[in-house]
Amino acid sequence: MARWSGGLRCLLLLAAIAFIYTQVRLFKAQSEYAEKISAAVEGENHCTSQMQLLIHQISMQKEKIMALEVKAKQQEEEGEQLRSLVQNLEIKGVKNLFQQDQVPVAAVVIMACNRADYLERTIKSILKYHASASSKFPVFISQDGSNSDVRTKALSYKQLAYMQHLDYEPVHTERPGELIAYYKIARHYKWALDQLFYKHSFNRVIILEDDMEISPDFFDYFEAGADLLDKDKSIMAISSWNDNGQKQFVHDPYKLYRSDFFPGLGWMLSKTTWDELSPKFFLTMYTYWDDWLRLQENHRGRQFIRPEVCRTYNFGEHGSSLGQFFHQYLKPIRLNNLPIDWKSMNLTYLMEDKFVKHFADLVKGANPLYGTDLILKINNIKGDVRIKYRDQPHFEEIARQFGIFEEWKDGIPRTAYKGVVVFRYQTRQIFLIGPDSLEQLGIQNY
Ligand SMILES: *[C@@H]1O[C@H](CO)[C@@H](O)[C@H](O)[C@H]1NC(C)=O
Repeated sequence: MARWSGGLRCLLLLAAIAFIYTQVRLFKAQSEYAEKISAAVEGENHCTSQMQLLIHQISMQKEKIMALEVKAKQQEEEGEQLRSLVQNLEIKGVKNLFQQDQVPVAAVVIMACNRADYLERTIKSILKYHASASSKFPVFISQDGSNSDVRTKALSYKQLAYMQHLDYEPVHTERPGELIAYYKIARHYKWALDQLFYKHSFNRVIILEDDMEISPDFFDYFEAGADLLDKDKSIMAISSWNDNGQKQFVHDPYKLYRSDFFPGLGWMLSKTTWDELSPKFFLTMYTYWDDWLRLQENHRGRQFIRPEVCRTYNFGEHGSSLGQFFHQYLKPIRLNNLPIDWKSMNLTYLMEDKFVKHFADLVKGANPLYGTDLILKINNIKGDVRIKYRDQPHFEEIARQFGIFEEWKDGIPRTAYKGVVVFRYQTRQIFLIGPDSLEQLGIQNY
C-alpha cells in the first residue's frame, strides 16, 4: 500500500512538472506573438503616416496643376486678344492697299513656308508687273509656320499684306504612307482661302506658290478670266498653267483652251466655288489637295481654262517636288514674255456652248494618222494631225513617243478636253483623240 502510494506521488509530481512545462512554453509563445503583433501594428502606423504624406503631396501637386491651368488659360486669352488686334491691323493694312472705290478683281496669295530666297524671287517677279494692277489685285503673303527669315522678308514689302498660319495641331496620319508635309500644305490652303474669302470678303482669289515667276500679261489674263468665271458657271477655275507647256510643245501665246483636267499651279477660283469646297476641303482629303480637286466627285464635270503658253514659271528645284520631275517637266516650261491686252480680246469662243464647236472644227481640220511609226509619218505629211487612241495603255504608248505627260487622274489624261489632248509638234497641232471623243464633240462620219 505504501509502495503504491509512493508510486502515485511520483506520478503526480511528474504530471505537475509536465503541466508547469507546458504552461511555460505557452506563455513564451504568447509573448512572442504579442511582440510580433505590436511590431505589425507599428509597421501599419508607419504606412498610414507615409500614405498621408503622399496624399498631402498629391493634393499640393494638384493645386499647382490647377494654378498652371488657370495661368495657361489667361495666356491663351491674352494671345487671342493679341491675335484679334493683329487681325484688325491687318484688315486696316489691307484696306490701305487698294482704293476704296475700286472693287478688286481678285486677291493674289503667295503660299510660303520656309524658303525666304525663293519667296524674294517670286515677289520681285510679281512686283515687276504689279504696279499698274495693284488696286485690282492686292497681294498677300501667307506664311505657314514661324520661319523668321520668311517673316522678315515678307514684312519688308510695304505694298504687300502679310498673314501667318500657326498650326500646332498634330497631324493625324490615319492612312499609312501619308506625307505629313502635303497634309500640312492642305491645311494651310484651307486656312488661307477661308481668310481671304470669308474674313477679307474677296470675290476671287489667285493662288501662287513661293517658287513662281509670272508673265508680263499675268494680271490682264486673270482679269479677262474673271469675266469668264462670272459668265460661265461650268468653268470651275482659270489656270495659268499647261502641263504640256514645255518649249517644244507650245507655239501660240494667244491660244486658250478648256480642259477637264485641273492644272493647279497658279489658278483663280471664285467665292461660290470655295463655298462649295471649303466645308469638305481637307476633311474628305485622302490624297494631295490638287489630286483631290481632280476627282469627279469634286469637279463634277466642270472645266478649267488653260493657256497654251504658261503664265507662271515654277523655278522651285528644292521643295516638295522631286528633282528629276523638275528637270524633265518644270525647267523646260516656256513662260510667255509678250505683254498681251486680254481685255480687248474676244474670248466668247471659250464659253461652254461655243467651245465644243470651236474645238470640233480644229479637230476636223487635222489629218488622221494611223498605226505605228507615227513621228516618221508626221514628218512626211503637212498640216495638223489627229491620232486615235484605244484606251489608257495605248494613250500612254503614244504619249511616250512624243514625250508629253502620260499620266491620267480619275479617268482623265492631263490637259484633256473631252478625251482629246492637244500639243504642238514643230508648230503643228497634234490631237490625240479618245475612243468617245468625236462623239462627244458632235463629229460624225470621221
Ligand atoms: C466674239 O466672238 C463670237 C464667236 O466666238 C461672235 O459671235 C461675236 O460676234 C464676237 N463679238 C465681237 C464683239 O466681235
